[in-house]
Amino acid sequence: MQIKKEENFKGKRMLKRAEGINTSWAYKKLDNLSKENLLLLDNVQFIYELALAQLELQALGVDFQVTNGLREFKLLKANDLDMVARKTAYFKIIDGKYTDYFQIIQKNITRSVNQYLTHWIYPYKGKFHPQMIRALLNIIGLKEGDTVLDPFIGSGTTTIEAQLLGINCIGIDVSPLCVLQSRVKAESIEALNKILDVKNDIINKFKPNLFNQENKSFLETIDSLDAEKVTNFYKMAYLVAVSDNARRGRNLETSFYKNLRLMIDSVGDFQDIVKELNLKLGKMEIELGDCRKLSLKDNSIDGIITSPPYSIALDYVSNDAHAFKVLGYELPEIREEFIGVRGKGQDRINLYNQDMMKSYEEIYRVLKPGRFAVIIIGNATYMGKEVKTVEFTIDCCKKIGFKFIKNIDKIIFGLYNVMRKENILIFQKPK
Ligand SMILES: C[S@@+](CC[C@H](N)C(=O)[O-])C[C@H]1O[C@@H](n2cnc3c(N)ncnc32)[C@H](O)[C@@H]1O
Repeated sequence: MQIKKEENFKGKRMLKRAEGINTSWAYKKLDNLSKENLLLLDNVQFIYELALAQLELQALGVDFQVTNGLREFKLLKANDLDMVARKTAYFKIIDGKYTDYFQIIQKNITRSVNQYLTHWIYPYKGKFHPQMIRALLNIIGLKEGDTVLDPFIGSGTTTIEAQLLGINCIGIDVSPLCVLQSRVKAESIEALNKILDVKNDIINKFKPNLFNQENKSFLETIDSLDAEKVTNFYKMAYLVAVSDNARRGRNLETSFYKNLRLMIDSVGDFQDIVKELNLKLGKMEIELGDCRKLSLKDNSIDGIITSPPYSIALDYVSNDAHAFKVLGYELPEIREEFIGVRGKGQDRINLYNQDMMKSYEEIYRVLKPGRFAVIIIGNATYMGKEVKTVEFTIDCCKKIGFKFIKNIDKIIFGLYNVMRKENILIFQKPK
């Protein structure tokens, strides 16, 4: 099977359509807008998003009034509207101009509004909503050149959003799969030419053995490439296909080719938007590590945005077992370091609480005085009972010395109208 030309597949065509700036639905209202208008993005629909939109405007130095059933914000005064249009997460138009974020989210090869640029790569359960992370980076006052830490980096959402705002990011996770996907999503733009150079070679040379999971030759070969970012990229494409095969029963070969093509296109989109908007990307440091013992200096971090495991809600090890196996890890060994998956019954909850206490102490230690830590967390249900993880987190952080600043209820409707509630908790380390 041959890879089709990049231009010929559906995602690229959809993207082209979205880019037709004058014809796209999303641009219709532009001519009618007065200079003062702040127009929200069409996907903003929940109360918590409006709350974040308002906090964000305040943080960016804008005085405003809310009008038209909460959808239009009337601008009263602002220090630097150009800067607001470059940074905001919730507005489509500011001062008669499209915001950077609105232009960024047009670069999306998926149907999901959140999965723009490289965010979609790998179907990781429990991803952050990237728009919310961009807003939170603004709300806690992070600026170009500052450093944000996410000690539970997961699929790398914080990394990409920080990068786009010129904020440096340190991402830590105990899972090698998370480190790999976060790196690939953020770093592949630096290696796209090399990735393209070896594409046909890799495919042609290893096609016969590629889809036999017991035969390790494909992974060994890409491991032996001398450029780490290129190796990581192909490894990830293979793991996305393995996941498609394990979870959805899709053909491994078809899925590999399709995902490789889509990944290359998304990385290309990332490169394009950096150029088009003249973005100065933040630096990334994504490492395998344990949040209970961070190898970072005291008082060295400008802000923290993170989402720890929700107590014992999701077994991150079993969930990605197929990927760990392909990467050559033994599940019982890898389990030992993961928070929220060890022990049984009440023991499991106690272990979670102890582990999280240590993690919050570490977060406190490395954060600069006066700076903010945002923890996004929800209660879990375990053995038919609600585990009050949110209250535990608030109590724990207060005991450690954090000042509790804000609790924003994040109520969302999932599939089949099932209501899910999470909380955005904002803490400050006293000066
Ligand atoms: C809720 S997820 C984070 C999701 C992330 N916010 C995103 O957007 O994808 C929690 C993460 O904690 C990680 N984790 C579990 N135990 C850990 C530990 N001891 N140190 C660091 N990370 C850990 C898991 O691998 C998982 O990726």
